[in-house]
Amino acid sequence: MTGTSAAPMVKAEAVHKSFGHVEVLKGIDLEVAPREVMCIVGPSGSGKSTFLRCINHLEQITAGRLWVDGHLVGYREKGGKLHELRDREVAAQRRDIGMVFQRFNLFPHMTALENVAEAPVQVKRVGKADARARAAELLDRVGLGDRVHTYPNQLSGGQQQRVAIARALAMEPKLMLFDEPTSALDPELVGEVLDVMRGLAADGMTMIVVTHEMGFAREVGDTLVFMDDGVVVEAGDPRQVLTDPQHERTQAFLSKVL
Ligand SMILES: Nc1ncnc2c1ncn2[C@@H]1O[C@H](COP(=O)(O)OP(=O)(O)OP(=O)(O)O)[C@@H](O)[C@H]1O
Ligand SMILES: [Mg+2]
Repeated sequence: MTGTSAAPMVKAEAVHKSFGHVEVLKGIDLEVAPREVMCIVGPSGSGKSTFLRCINHLEQITAGRLWVDGHLVGYREKGGKLHELRDREVAAQRRDIGMVFQRFNLFPHMTALENVAEAPVQVKRVGKADARARAAELLDRVGLGDRVHTYPNQLSGGQQQRVAIARALAMEPKLMLFDEPTSALDPELVGEVLDVMRGLAADGMTMIVVTHEMGFAREVGDTLVFMDDGVVVEAGDPRQVLTDPQHERTQAFLSKVL
């Protein structure tokens, strides 16, 4: 379990997000402690992806406040007013946050090793040899030490997703966001990706994981959040929420997915 004394890695305070007239996030309040694994579940359209995208400022929130590691995401507060950060400053914030999507989006013309080494060289100005050595270590860590020179189209979906995780880790993020990382995979490939994520959690990575894998949420999650219609309906110890949900909406959702 995570300590309660540490300053939160992520703090959301009354986060709202609208697209035009449609309010998708209707006041999200939550905190993620350093080293905590938070799993988020909820019906399609409830705002899970939107919330993750707000955390790394791929979406701009319309009201509320969002901090990562004590820094306001996307804004600077000055004289009680919020000023949007410049693109370069937003990019610098985003560099510390790794994101893994349902689709792996690897560069098809690059080997696994090149995919992982690319951002540190281009964005962080790490030397090529160092970046490649580090990429090889990371690929080894995700169980692909023997596939470093393989191109994405010669890898299975599970292997590609593990390359994507290694690629995110290469930037040495302090927070990892996963948006349904296993839902595009054939069932027999899900386990190998969850194993890598389990290892990351054991190593102390702070993670927010949107997932339908209730077994993973129960075993690995420190917290389970149930979102519906743009709000957090219920949050708590995963075992508690899964076995004894307090809200009717949570019960109805879980009865469909468990
Ligand atoms: N760029 C956008 N413009 C307009 N509406 C959007 C945009 N992105 C998301 N939405 C809407 O916001 C709502 C929440 O979408 P979101 O993708 O966050 O849901 P989700 O919980 O991740 O769903 P799923 O489980 O299907 O991935 C949906 O009604 C969606 O149509
Ligand atoms: Mg989604």
